[in-house]
Amino acid sequence: MAVYRCGTFNDLMLSCAHFMFLNRFRLCWVGAAIFALCLPGPAAWASAAPQHTVLDTMDQRMMACTLCHGNQGRATSSGYFPRIAGKPAGYLYNQLTHFRDGRRQNPGMANLLDHLSDAYLRDIAAHFSAIDLPYPPPQPVQASGSAMNRAEVLVRDGDAARQLPACVACHGQALTGVNPAVPGLLGLPRDYLIGQLGAWQTGLRHAHAPDCMAQIAKALPPEDVAALAAWLSSRPVPANSKPAPPVDKPMPMRCGSAVP
Ligand code: HEC
Ligand code: HEC
Repeated sequence: MAVYRCGTFNDLMLSCAHFMFLNRFRLCWVGAAIFALCLPGPAAWASAAPQHTVLDTMDQRMMACTLCHGNQGRATSSGYFPRIAGKPAGYLYNQLTHFRDGRRQNPGMANLLDHLSDAYLRDIAAHFSAIDLPYPPPQPVQASGSAMNRAEVLVRDGDAARQLPACVACHGQALTGVNPAVPGLLGLPRDYLIGQLGAWQTGLRHAHAPDCMAQIAKALPPEDVAALAAWLSSRPVPANSKPAPPVDKPMPMRCGSAVP
C-alpha cells in the first residue's frame, strides 16, 4: 500500500511540476502537496513491503513546501516567497498555526496545513529551523539617501515621539532574530516586508495578543514602511546568521507571539 501511495505521489509531483511550468492548474500541485504531507510516518513504512520504496524522510515529505519556498526552504532574494530555513523554531511553529487557524492568510498554505496536528507542526518547524544554508545576496537599494537614513534610525533607535521602540530591541542587535520566537529581518525580499507590514495595518495578519507588531505597523506611515523595507532588504545577512539566544530582560512592548 505504502509503495503504491508513494508511486502515485511521484507521478503526481511529476505531472504537477509540468503543469506548474506551464503556470496552470495550481490546485493540482496543492493537491499533490497535501498528498505528500499525508504519507504515513516511519512506523507505517517499516511494516510495508521494503522493495522500491522512496525514503520517508522529513526532507521527502517537505518537498511540498519547497515548490514555493525554494530548495530546502531557502527562497531567493528576488521573489515574494519568504525563506523559512534557519528561522527560530518557535517562530516557524507560530506561523504554521497562524496560517492553519486563519490569523495569517494564504490559501495555498492554509490548504496544506488544514488538519495537521500541533505536534506535526512542531516537527515541521524544527525541521526547517535546523537547516543551515547560505543566504542570497542583498537586494539593490531602492530608496533615496534620506529615506535610508530615516529607516536606519528607526531600526536602531526607534522614535520615542511615536512610542516606536527600536526594531533591534526585539529582533536582536544583529537583526538575525532572537530565540525562541522572534524572526530575523534580514534576507527577506523587499516586497515581502512591505506585504507583511501592510497586512498588519489592514488586519490581514495577526499574531497572538497582545499583537505588538500590529501596533508598531499601524504607527508607520507608508513612506516609513517603504524606507524600512528598502533598508532591511539591502543589508547583507551577517556571517553568523543564527538567531540570538533568548534574552532575560522584558521587551519594550508586550508581544503575545514572542514565545511559542
Ligand atoms: C502555494 C505556495 C506555498 C506552499 C506550497 C507553501 N507555502 Fe509557505 N508561504 C507561502 C507564501 C506566499 C507565504 C507568505 C504569505 C504571506 O504573505 O503572509 C508563506 C509563508 C510561510 C511561512 C511564514 C514565513 C515567515 O517568515 O513568516 C512559513 C513558516 C511557511 N510558509 C511554511 C511552509 C511550510 C512548512 C510549507 C509546507 C508544509 C509551506 N510553507 C508551503 C506559500 C507557500
Ligand atoms: C516589541 C518587540 C518588537 C519590536 C520593537 C519590533 N518587532 Fe517586529 N516582530 C516582533 C515579533 C514578536 C514578531 C513575530 C510575530 C508573529 O509571530 O507573527 C515580529 C515579526 C516581524 C515581522 C515579520 C517577519 C516575517 O518573516 O514575516 C516583520 C516584517 C517585523 N517584525 C518588522 C519589524 C520592524 C520593521 C520593526 C521596527 C520598526 C519591528 N518589527 C519592531 C516583535 C517586535
